[in-house]
Amino acid sequence: MSSSSLRDKKEDGEKINKWGLRWIEWIRGWWQIVSEIFFQRIMASHLENPLSLPPLNDLTCIITGSTSGIGLQTARQLAESGAHVVMAVRNTKGGHELVQNWQTEWAGKGLPLNIEVMELNLLSLDSVVRFAEAWNARLGPLHVLINNAGIFAFGEPQRFSKDGYEEHMQVNHLAPALLSILLLPSLIRGSPSRVVNVNSIMHTVGFVDTEDMNVNSGKRKFSSLVGYTSSKLAQVMFSSIFHKRLPAEAGINVLCVSPGVVHTNVARDLPRIVQAAYHLIPYFIFNPQEGSRSSLFAATDPQVPEYCSLLKADDWPVCAFISHDCRPMNASEEAHNIATANRVWEKTLEMIGLPPDAVEMLLEGEEVQCRYGLKQD
Ligand SMILES: NC(=O)c1ccc[n+]([C@@H]2O[C@H](COP(=O)([O-])OP(=O)(O)OC[C@H]3O[C@@H](n4cnc5c(N)ncnc54)[C@H](OP(=O)(O)O)[C@@H]3O)[C@@H](O)[C@H]2O)c1
Repeated sequence: MSSSSLRDKKEDGEKINKWGLRWIEWIRGWWQIVSEIFFQRIMASHLENPLSLPPLNDLTCIITGSTSGIGLQTARQLAESGAHVVMAVRNTKGGHELVQNWQTEWAGKGLPLNIEVMELNLLSLDSVVRFAEAWNARLGPLHVLINNAGIFAFGEPQRFSKDGYEEHMQVNHLAPALLSILLLPSLIRGSPSRVVNVNSIMHTVGFVDTEDMNVNSGKRKFSSLVGYTSSKLAQVMFSSIFHKRLPAEAGINVLCVSPGVVHTNVARDLPRIVQAAYHLIPYFIFNPQEGSRSSLFAATDPQVPEYCSLLKADDWPVCAFISHDCRPMNASEEAHNIATANRVWEKTLEMIGLPPDAVEMLLEGEEVQCRYGLKQD
């Protein structure tokens, strides 16, 4: 399959539905989502909760969106295992309050937690550049970047960031992509290092039209579901190309995880009836600690780099994808569309204001100019 836009697909005579997928792919995607909701607890029954982590005193980790839900649990558990944790958050006051509470509860159990808060607002690409510049200026290593922050503004009207991008696409894909690339100098210093993207099983019903990343050309009708699923698929495609472009010697692995269906603030915009269902079926839905296991596993398990390297050596088209049960899973069929993935890569770099060879330049130790980061918010 080589086409990358709805128009190409239609001209190729492919039978696709209004979401941009073939019916069989779309049904398979929904089947995977429903299975995850009802069977995730059974599939993950071999896992402990909380996931036990080795001592992580030598690890420096940045976690975006760690004031709530999965990210909050991920940050806390990494810090309690000894890692130096940087909470990259938009609500810095909330972040500092959390750190204070955690330190108080941790008192007497060991050395104070090595945790700090830095400001990052993914709705502003200027903010992303400022964060990366501030971090890189320390000239220290970064071992793990967890792109966790995300939004699913269910049922909300379409909104655009001040950078002009559809908000799901910006927060869930574009801003984390920019952050990951700009932090390469620190990831190189921390090598072997990892970029863990908190993705979703919902990518399986996503479709990315690279000619209409904002879903505002009129070719597809926007809904928050379209916005969310496209952004998550774009992230898998971008991560796959990113991982491929990093030579094995760089020792940096890029992967995606699905946390499962988790009761967090992500449900804040869901209709009341769905929120009620979240409360009614707690047996099926993970709590945030359970939902943090795939991120923690991807960030710390010693076998993960080996698995990622195997995929790279085999020329597998998609980066590693770790499921809610901490086992490898296959991303959607559409995610294997290399032509579209390459287009997503190129389009993303253009949108985030980086040159096409930004990764290669940073690997060579050269400076890269980004269109963003010059303005204050
Ligand atoms: N919960 C699920 O069932 C589920 C399933 C699949 C995937 N996921 C993914 O898991 C990740 C974590 O979500 P969650 O379920 O833990 O949701 P959550 O409780 O709503 O947490 C999301 C975090 O992202 C932050 N965030 C949102 N917009 C931001 C922005 N513009 N700049 C910086 N930070 C921002 C939020 O900060 P504020 O506190 O300031 O709003 C919050 O800390 C997301 O990527 C989500 O797509 C969740």
